[in-house]
Amino acid sequence: MPNNENPAAPRIVVVGSINMDLVARMVQLPRPGETVSGDSFQTIPGGKGANQAVAARRLGANVFMVGRLGEDSFGTILREHLIADGIETSHVFSTPSCSSGVALIGVESSGANCITVIPGANGQLTVQDVEASLGLITHAKAIIVQLESPTPAIAAAIQFAQQNGVLTVLDPAPAPPGRLPQELMRVDVLSPNQTEAEALTGIVVHDWETAAQAASDLQQHGAKDVVLKLGSLGAFVATRDGHTVRVNAIPTNIVDTTAAGDAFTAALTVALCEGRSLPEAAKFGCLAGTLACTRFGAQPAMPTRDELEKWSNSRLV
Ligand code: RIB
Repeated sequence: MPNNENPAAPRIVVVGSINMDLVARMVQLPRPGETVSGDSFQTIPGGKGANQAVAARRLGANVFMVGRLGEDSFGTILREHLIADGIETSHVFSTPSCSSGVALIGVESSGANCITVIPGANGQLTVQDVEASLGLITHAKAIIVQLESPTPAIAAAIQFAQQNGVLTVLDPAPAPPGRLPQELMRVDVLSPNQTEAEALTGIVVHDWETAAQAASDLQQHGAKDVVLKLGSLGAFVATRDGHTVRVNAIPTNIVDTTAAGDAFTAALTVALCEGRSLPEAAKFGCLAGTLACTRFGAQPAMPTRDELEKWSNSRLV
């Protein structure tokens, strides 16, 4: 338990990836075979799991991270960053003779990005690691999982959580082509973005109608609550009892879309843990995702509760 645990705030366990992002900025992302000149290079803490952990923590939750780092300098730095954010890391295991996960990221001036992930130690997360974290999971209000870690470990985390009445949220990123296995589909909340929804359903999601078709398709194949992250459109919510809600995005100046979906997923989960309805939680997710897009990098872009409230109030006047 972290020394700084707030007994009034929910406990959230994030099981997933921790990466060092190697980020190049350029005017336009290169096409296959093309060489372009970049403007800058930075190493920035990232990884979908770690980004979601940082975002949930900054939004007020008590956060416990389960994952793997390599025994290298990136591993040391990444762990230090998580601890500095107040995240409990006793179940972030070290992996000898293995590099930490890295992501090669290009960001163009429109804010669009392109990401290649090399899993490194993330790929070594085992069912036994998750079993060793059972005490954390059973005492949590929610777990958040993604797909940058091996499926058996993620499926085990979902199973343990569901056996103990803990809310399960899956960000199916990166999405494998084709259907997800049922043990992943049957989380409480499945929250893909447009690209992931297309990979999982074969439906090209480009407007509210196609979003509704994709959500319905996911539910016909076993999903419960579905929240589609639709970028500049907003979010589409389809509840398990048949209601659908469109949440409009807030227009803003985009700097970098990296980890916007992570901010969304974390905020969605925090809001659900605080008792908000799914549409209200999706609105909170949209706010967090949009604010993250106005800043550069993954973890540095994750907003605090205070920043998010001030920013959203300023958008209303
Ligand atoms: O979602 C953004 C993240 O995807 C980056 O931080 C990168 O590490 C990859 O995991």
